[in-house]
Amino acid sequence: AAAKGMRLGSCFAWSEPGADRGSFANPAYARLLKRDCGLLVPENEMKWQALRPSATTFDFARFDAMMAWADANALPVRGHNLLWHQPKWMPKWEESHDFGATPARAAEQLLVRHITTVCQRYGTRIRSYDVVNEAVTPADGTLYTTALSRAFGSPEATLDLAFHTARTAAPHAQLVYNDYMSWEPGNAQHRAGVLKLLEGFKARGVPVDALGVQSHLVTQGTDTRATIAALEGEWRRFIDAITAMGYAIVITELDVRDNNLPAEVAARDQGVADFTRGYLDLMFAYPALKDVLLWGMTDRYSWIEGFEPRKDKARRRPCPYDAAFAAKPMHAAIAAAF
Ligand code: XIL
Repeated sequence: AAAKGMRLGSCFAWSEPGADRGSFANPAYARLLKRDCGLLVPENEMKWQALRPSATTFDFARFDAMMAWADANALPVRGHNLLWHQPKWMPKWEESHDFGATPARAAEQLLVRHITTVCQRYGTRIRSYDVVNEAVTPADGTLYTTALSRAFGSPEATLDLAFHTARTAAPHAQLVYNDYMSWEPGNAQHRAGVLKLLEGFKARGVPVDALGVQSHLVTQGTDTRATIAALEGEWRRFIDAITAMGYAIVITELDVRDNNLPAEVAARDQGVADFTRGYLDLMFAYPALKDVLLWGMTDRYSWIEGFEPRKDKARRRPCPYDAAFAAKPMHAAIAAAF
């Protein structure tokens, strides 16, 4: 990656000393992150749910510990995220928050204080932020609303404010809109909604530098190369339209759900590797892509196991290393793609 002027990275997590999580506190995992990664991102610890126990307080203890370890190892960190604009992912208190007699003003203050406090705390140590995460409804491409956006006036205005505030608070940073875009063939509404949102940002002069393409991939059948072929035209048209507007692209959360692949491990791993390679070949055709982050390096800690277990209950294998930290064919496929 470095030889190509690119970076490979991964999410990492906080954990209590001794706890077995995707954390620097686990020496085996720490070694692996240091060996393979040129960039890290916190899996959960920078989200509002983690940083904001209440409307008036911040709790930086966990994320500070992660940043201290990353700094000690000279590993750059990107920010994820400054606003995950869905009711489900805001802290509980947000839904019933009293925005008072001047709700637009109160909402503005809440959002600006959040983004400014976080950005100023980490300064130039963070040079890329997912400012807004997943604001588009996959079913129809419209924007989610939250108590915050209803108080402020509209979801568009809320997202615009988030980016303007981030630009002011972190003028050095790449500002990213990050989404999963339901990338599968035929599922067009989500992508159309994201495209419309990014067109709107351009038209309104909102400071957005890049689209974060999460890349939580899902194999569609045993012939994973055929899945790529089926997807290619539609997906390229989408990425072409994004890059034509001048946006950079970042692969922010790559992992693979091995759906419709046989339970047998060798075949499954090969299918996942081929699929990953096909996807990266497609994406690496875009010079606007510099950073590729995995959503975890090992199957041991992947969120996919809890999010969507396999129907046959076989353990998911979404990452380049298995649960015992041994490299899988996906690891070789990623290396070969670079
Ligand atoms: C996930 C984490 O991996 C889980 O631990 C947590 O329970 C939920 O969030 N898109 C994103 C990430 O932008 O923040 C999500 O991370 C995965 C999907």
